Amino acid sequence: MTTNLIDPDIRKAHTLPSRFYTDEESFTDLVAGFEECWHFAAHEDQLSENNILPLEHMESLVGEPMLLTRDAVIRCLSNVCTHRGMLIATEACSASTLKCGYHGRTFGLDGCMRNMPEFEDVEDFPSLSDDLSSFDLKRWKGLLFAGSNPIRFNDCLEELEARIGWMPIESFQHDPSRHRTYEIDANWALYVDNYLEGFHIPYVHGDLHGELDYDSYSTELFEGGVLQIGVASDSESCFSLPESSPDYGQRIAAYYYWLYPGLMLNFYPWGLSVNLVIPLSVGRTRIVYHGFVWDHSKLGAGAGGDLDKVEAEDQDIVEATHRGVKSGAYDRGRYSPTRETGVHHFHRMLTS
Ligand code: FES
Ligand SMILES: [Fe+2]
Repeated sequence: MTTNLIDPDIRKAHTLPSRFYTDEESFTDLVAGFEECWHFAAHEDQLSENNILPLEHMESLVGEPMLLTRDAVIRCLSNVCTHRGMLIATEACSASTLKCGYHGRTFGLDGCMRNMPEFEDVEDFPSLSDDLSSFDLKRWKGLLFAGSNPIRFNDCLEELEARIGWMPIESFQHDPSRHRTYEIDANWALYVDNYLEGFHIPYVHGDLHGELDYDSYSTELFEGGVLQIGVASDSESCFSLPESSPDYGQRIAAYYYWLYPGLMLNFYPWGLSVNLVIPLSVGRTRIVYHGFVWDHSKLGAGAGGDLDKVEAEDQDIVEATHRGVKSGAYDRGRYSPTRETGVHHFHRMLTS
């Protein structure tokens, strides 16, 4: 991959060449690298009612159908039956075993093959290869992360711990009514670019602009991610920060965390909105929302009050930008050194 394509000095740098958003080969190369990343799997509260949860998004992100099972422990297993390859679970459910719907092969929640009809005469059966493969799972405050061959998580979790470790994230409750799935006609990286700056808020999000103090909006970069902090306008909803918070004394309306490649953890006084950016093809992207509520009384207010409206406004912009970057008249732009440090950081990651 090209090195130093994006100048480290944002004042000198030119933005990502448009081929990164439009070219099949660049797309395939970048997405192949997702295998090495940790990805959000679920919040463990998603396993409170059902103890089997297929992770459809993992198939798109890393090419592996996976599922989570919970008994005494939570495991991440392959969702592919070891008989002839059928997917085992297609929706969340509760059961004491995993049973393939094709020919009835049954596995324990630990992935071990337990039973297979009509296999009495099969030699050397069962063997270890008849068990389901398992994948690494990482847990932080109730958030579960998985990957097919993850090596990079850098210091992301230490960053989150130091900043917002005071929040009782593990006790946030999954709210299925806040689940959304969108598909947009745009490259995934354009969706991320748009997320990584608040520069467009006054132009694109009239209502959100009223909730936030634009001049106090800040962006912090760290290895593997970006944090944007929205400060509330005078009367708007904000966190009650404990003295242990590095931001104690400020009127924080939202912590917007992005972790490479496409995980957005948006913390509001009411709880957490998780947004997953899932590339489907070079010009098509799925966006999945999951909501986890901390304080019901704060829903509907402040910067996280009407996420559907903000999302629709962003999608219109991102789809129009995708049409724009396909133009022969456009290749690269320049960055605002005050407002686009997050986008610059992301582009440096894409080209390193
Ligand atoms: S594919 Fe699962 S039992 Fe046959
Ligand atoms: Fe936006």
